[in-house]
Amino acid sequence: MTTKAIKIKRPEVRRYLVPINTAASQQMFTDCLVIGSGIAGLRAAIEAASNGCEVILVCKKRLQDSNTWHAQGGIASVLANDDSIASHVKDTLKTGCGICDAEIVEQVVADGPGLVKELLDWGAEFDKTATGSISVSFEGGHSHARVAHALGDNTGRALADALIKKARQFENVTVIENFFAIDIITNDAGVCIGVIGQNSKSSTEIIWAKSVILATGGAGRLYRETTNPDVATGDGLAMAVRAGAILRDMEFMQFHPTTLYIAGASRALITETLRGEGAILLDTNHKPFMAEYHPNAELAPRDVVSRAILDTMLKTGSTHVYLDVRHFKKDYFAKRFPFINELLVSFDIDISKDLIPVRPSAHYMIGGIKTDRQARTSIANLFACGEVASTGLHGANRLGSNSLLEGLVYGRMAGTNAAAIAKKAAKTAGPPKFKYDIPKSDRSRLDTEDVLNSLRSLMWRNAGITRMAKPLAETQEIITFWERYVLDKIFDSPTGWECQNMLTASLMIAKAAETRTESRGVHFRSDHPQIDDTNFKIHLEFE
Ligand code: SIN
Repeated sequence: MTTKAIKIKRPEVRRYLVPINTAASQQMFTDCLVIGSGIAGLRAAIEAASNGCEVILVCKKRLQDSNTWHAQGGIASVLANDDSIASHVKDTLKTGCGICDAEIVEQVVADGPGLVKELLDWGAEFDKTATGSISVSFEGGHSHARVAHALGDNTGRALADALIKKARQFENVTVIENFFAIDIITNDAGVCIGVIGQNSKSSTEIIWAKSVILATGGAGRLYRETTNPDVATGDGLAMAVRAGAILRDMEFMQFHPTTLYIAGASRALITETLRGEGAILLDTNHKPFMAEYHPNAELAPRDVVSRAILDTMLKTGSTHVYLDVRHFKKDYFAKRFPFINELLVSFDIDISKDLIPVRPSAHYMIGGIKTDRQARTSIANLFACGEVASTGLHGANRLGSNSLLEGLVYGRMAGTNAAAIAKKAAKTAGPPKFKYDIPKSDRSRLDTEDVLNSLRSLMWRNAGITRMAKPLAETQEIITFWERYVLDKIFDSPTGWECQNMLTASLMIAKAAETRTESRGVHFRSDHPQIDDTNFKIHLEFE
């Protein structure tokens, strides 16, 4: 793996969060261990199982608790007659602002239609046109309608359901819910040999595996405002860095322009396909503003829309803007966007009369664990796919709905290759013996809940939609201070480990954002507002 990159020093972290002693631990064995139950993890498990491997799939909470489950817009793929692979490739490259890996883009886009049809065969309830073909919508940055959706705006649920059903058909797939993966275990040669985690009975357990696939998803919960569910705390990113994997492009956190903003209520995504179907953004004086910022107005790339909303909020001194869907037919809206419709009704918002209050929030981690074109990480026998991975598809800005597509393509790829490794692995004489001790720390203990709330506000304020050198440097100082009192501890429950992981992942985001002194894609530096191709048309890697 030798893509040209600027190198950044990786954070100094203890190798394991918990002591390990095989003599005193429960242990399990498998060919292939998959961590995560989003589209990538499920697809990987199905592929490894159909290649004849014993597969264990673990997830932090229920199978349904993933970013995939909450996806609304859909999955981007070339399905319409007037569309073409070349056009989807071109849109992806253009949105990625010069640092996509063109070969990966071509591979993912070309595999898309076949994998979407496979999902249809597996029972995914894609919405259809009157003539029976898969119905497709527009999203920002796409020059053709190519976003396939299912059960209206419940796309993620429909796709995950179909994959869960399919995975359950394999007798060689064991699903373990409520398993918190704490750390990847590597041997003296740095090869991945398993994972230590905590099971639903709160006992520590080691799963030895011939190959491991990390599909742990995103990190939106590092930010106060986010579309992501509770589970998205960047655990896979932190685990990988502790194990010595290369991570890259951590500065590229994508913000979604429109989340429902009702003070006191948790944020909820309001899908971009609404704008694709004609919803208009209005300021709090009820004036449209997007045309002032981009010729494509509401369908400008997400980063442009997010910054335009932020600017408009500043100009009008308000906490939000509005999305206007009053011109939609009520019956059509309820059928096409059932999730949002129900949500709005629950807040007494009548779409035929009322405007929808929205503002941007953290949505998708573009950077992550560097993989090659075979989903291999820099650690032998460790694969990564989905949001936790950085394959090179998205560059500096992800085209809407390309992530579910990437999850399918790279989930399958990781499953195939992890199965091949597992099949080739020599028979072991018995469980490895492994011991790792951690000295007890006498430093004071910080309140992890308090640290987490403060961290999420800090990240939102200083490493959010717009960034500047000084606040980014301050962010790192503050995180490093918290780390002194949090990373030295041995916790025995997910809240503590999540706090440790979130500090590690946040520090990498702030460091990378400080290093990239230009603006590219989703990374906007107010003190360096221009793109700098001479110095930065390149990835940033933690090594
Ligand atoms: C949306 O529905 O707006 C989100 C789709 C995506 O992030 O790809």
